[in-house]
Amino acid sequence: MKQRATFNSKLGLVMAAVGSAVGLGNIWRFPCEAGEHGGGAFLIVYIFCVIILGFVVMLAEFFLGRASQSNTVGAFKVLAPNTMWKIIGYNGVLAAFLIFGFYSVVSGWTLEYIYQSAAGNLNANSIEEFVINFGSFQSDIFRPILWVLIFTLITHFVVLSGVKKGIERASKIMMPVLFVILIALCIRSLMLPNAIEGLKFFFNPDFSKITSTVVLSALGQAFFSLSVGMGCMITYASYFNKSINIPNTAVSVVTLDTLIAILAGVIIFPAVTSFGISPSQGPQLVFITLPNIFQQMPLGNLWSFIFFVLLAIAALTSIISLHEVVTAYLHEQYKMSRRKAATIVSASGFTLGIICSLSFGVLSRFKIFGSTIFDLLDFITANLMLPLGGMFICIFIGWFVDKQVLKAELTNNGTLKFKLFSVFVFLIKYVAPIIIALVCVNELGLF
Ligand code: TRP
Repeated sequence: MKQRATFNSKLGLVMAAVGSAVGLGNIWRFPCEAGEHGGGAFLIVYIFCVIILGFVVMLAEFFLGRASQSNTVGAFKVLAPNTMWKIIGYNGVLAAFLIFGFYSVVSGWTLEYIYQSAAGNLNANSIEEFVINFGSFQSDIFRPILWVLIFTLITHFVVLSGVKKGIERASKIMMPVLFVILIALCIRSLMLPNAIEGLKFFFNPDFSKITSTVVLSALGQAFFSLSVGMGCMITYASYFNKSINIPNTAVSVVTLDTLIAILAGVIIFPAVTSFGISPSQGPQLVFITLPNIFQQMPLGNLWSFIFFVLLAIAALTSIISLHEVVTAYLHEQYKMSRRKAATIVSASGFTLGIICSLSFGVLSRFKIFGSTIFDLLDFITANLMLPLGGMFICIFIGWFVDKQVLKAELTNNGTLKFKLFSVFVFLIKYVAPIIIALVCVNELGLF
């Protein structure tokens, strides 16, 4: 059998997992969700979900991937042959594809902003003008789709250049730079007049705002941001070599990812209150507040250019992981060449991207259950498919996987210590599945 490709270095591997986790989810989706769902109240629930649920599911996925050395669906076929468990894998592949569709649209917006900053055009006289400019770009037919196409082509070629070279190299260099820029932006944002009100909104929880919708959104956002619940981390962990310390890797990924989301909040919310706009603007929040911050900085267009380049790269390292899930599945389960598999994914993903993009323009009045196609895909994947996928992953590991096997894999056959192993087993067996089930049932209005 041909040996599977593995990630080169330890740093490269952590960075690839971080690269998948850190993306538009942290910088675009997190402030948007937090803004719509009560700021501080959302943040508290979010952090709880990350630590108790997201982390546990990430460990579980790392286990599944490295133990089976297989893709999202294959992992269940290897570890539980001839059972229904592989449905979790199918749910994951489908979720990856659907997320790919709307994620490529927002990734495309970052390209437009790179272009506009390079041209020196990202200026306006007022925040209202930024809102109008963004709206008219967004509802245009061809322009956003052109960017989706370009972004999809870039993704396609990175995925085709192979696991090691493409993904690892891209992630390793850019993530630290992004981090530095975010810190600079934080400082700038905190110096805006009225910034303190934004910090209050973000850090001062009003517990009366915690409703079942807030909890479900925080749960969905935690899974979305960490790239868990649909087997993305299974696919990545299948490329881990046997000496990697899985628990430590999960701690690093979760910590970095959460830190970056919080940084994004510290950038956005002070700006929101300072500019006097509503924090519940929805998907365009980041794309109107940030240019306004940049405009008030010396060399604003340069900063803005660098920032959107980095954001596009963060989006790229995330979308690659979505693409990879579907490509690895087709390649390994249907024995088609990687090139053919990747081409199918890119072409069909682009088609879905077109539909999502048009849902801001000509298709904006076409609604299913009261949502546009973009919003619907976002909601179904993040708030249903990922939490339910995560729940079944927990049940699978907690109830059906031999704990000896689990422990051996997580401790590299006893060569590492994992002191909290029994806590982990308790969480994955009882706590995580029950909480997720309650949240979903409650939101569906079943009690
Ligand atoms: N986590 C990424 C982000 O925050 C998005 C992403 C990549 C993702 N792979 C995923 C989300 C798998 C859910 C599942 O931008």
